[in-house]
Amino acid sequence: MVAIVPGSSLTPDLLADPKLSRLVTDGRGSLSFILGNAASRQRLLSASIHWDRILLAFEDGHAVGYAALKYRMRGPFALRIQPFVHEFGWLSGTLRFAAFCLSEWREWRYPFLLYGLRVRKSARNHGIASALLQACSKQAAACGFTAVYLEVPLANDRARHLYLQNGFSLLRKRWVPWPPVRSMRRDVEAQP
Ligand SMILES: CC(C)(COP(=O)(O)OP(=O)(O)OC[C@H]1O[C@@H](n2cnc3c(N)ncnc32)[C@H](O)[C@@H]1OP(=O)(O)O)[C@@H](O)C(=O)NCCC(=O)NCCS
Repeated sequence: MVAIVPGSSLTPDLLADPKLSRLVTDGRGSLSFILGNAASRQRLLSASIHWDRILLAFEDGHAVGYAALKYRMRGPFALRIQPFVHEFGWLSGTLRFAAFCLSEWREWRYPFLLYGLRVRKSARNHGIASALLQACSKQAAACGFTAVYLEVPLANDRARHLYLQNGFSLLRKRWVPWPPVRSMRRDVEAQP
């Protein structure tokens, strides 16, 4: 049985569980050249999660996946320089933080962005990502948006297939080849 819940609805005790924050911070692997490995991402970002921008999937009581959302100038992570300096030292930490900010700001052109989506390996092919995508569209509509946008890496055929199956369509190719992603969009029904 799968349940999708907003992270902000969980108690502080549950949110303090490092397993939960690790599930969310593990998902930024494409930025490992800026954020480092999984352990480093956990140290950098776990205390900076905006839980009101996270939808969590629970299967049989265990957190098995999440969708991270970005809208109204707020994404799933607060931008704080101190953890970067602490993790990488002053120079490298400042440069990495600046690169992370650029990567974050680049995405503000999307009114409502599905920033990240991940399901634990052991729970894949149970329809969990599809359920998260449904919940994401519902949240977009509830907040007054007319579409959900996302970026899918060119090499991620599985994710692109999932999004196409769930009503997203590819937007036209961009002129700038970096980062190597394609944008996708799904219209959502306005809620009365
Ligand atoms: C991509 C990813 C999120 C998909 O998660 P998932 O939970 O396995 O996805 P779903 O189960 O909803 O859909 C996958 C398949 O399961 C099928 N499925 C859906 N509901 C199902 C159910 N109730 N029972 C069995 N299978 C089901 C779907 O039809 C789909 O099959 P298809 O590929 O033949 O169409 C997951 O592989 C992942 O976390 N990958 C790593 C991170 C990543 O790439 N994220 C995307 C970044 S853009």
